[in-house]
Amino acid sequence: MQTPTVVGIAGSLRQESFTRRTLAYAMQGAENAGAKVTTVDLRDLSLPVYNPDDDLSEEGKYLKAAINEADAIIIATPVYHGSYSSTIKNAIDYCGFDEFENKTVGLLGVAGGRFPITALEHLRTVCRSVNAWVLPYQSAVPRVRGAFDNGELADPELRERVETLGEKVVQYAAIRHIEPGSFESQENVGG
Ligand SMILES: Cc1cc2nc3c(=O)[nH]c(=O)nc-3n(C[C@H](O)[C@H](O)[C@H](O)COP(=O)(O)O)c2cc1C
Repeated sequence: MQTPTVVGIAGSLRQESFTRRTLAYAMQGAENAGAKVTTVDLRDLSLPVYNPDDDLSEEGKYLKAAINEADAIIIATPVYHGSYSSTIKNAIDYCGFDEFENKTVGLLGVAGGRFPITALEHLRTVCRSVNAWVLPYQSAVPRVRGAFDNGELADPELRERVETLGEKVVQYAAIRHIEPGSFESQENVGG
């Protein structure tokens, strides 16, 4: 495989989002590992709540095209009420098997509290439902307010764990060229 393309999306629309800042470390890890990286900023898209009767907005098309071009995707989410954010779910709902099937996906969680196991598990299930190939390795920044100092992730070990997610996504970016085809996308018409 030639230079893989990695697309990152962050599920917070907050101006000073820690999730977006944390995603930047993972994207840096992917770039250092040799990928072409693009981050889709959902603030620029202002995606309406997904409506299957009206899913042809320019913003939706842009998102789908960006994910389509990716060999691998890094999804970063803040923890909202014990799960991933509706911002991420809405973005994923615009997509389906066409965008995600057999693609490598890396998951990153950012929490105000403890390590966000449930949020990552929920997101893993959703990605699995569109037949994405979700990396077993996942990364998270718990207690995020104390983790950043002057806009930077202060703990080098934590930084390394996040950058490693980007590296691993690149390492496995070619997986869809190896995996045998699956019948499941024909079975789940909603996906
Ligand atoms: C609606 C909402 C619900 C939240 N629920 C949780 C939660 O259940 N567990 C937790 O650890 N943090 C929770 N938080 C804190 C966020 O995970 C934390 O502030 C994170 O930094 C937000 O991401 P952002 O900085 O990218 O906007 C919640 C924040 C919001 C806005």
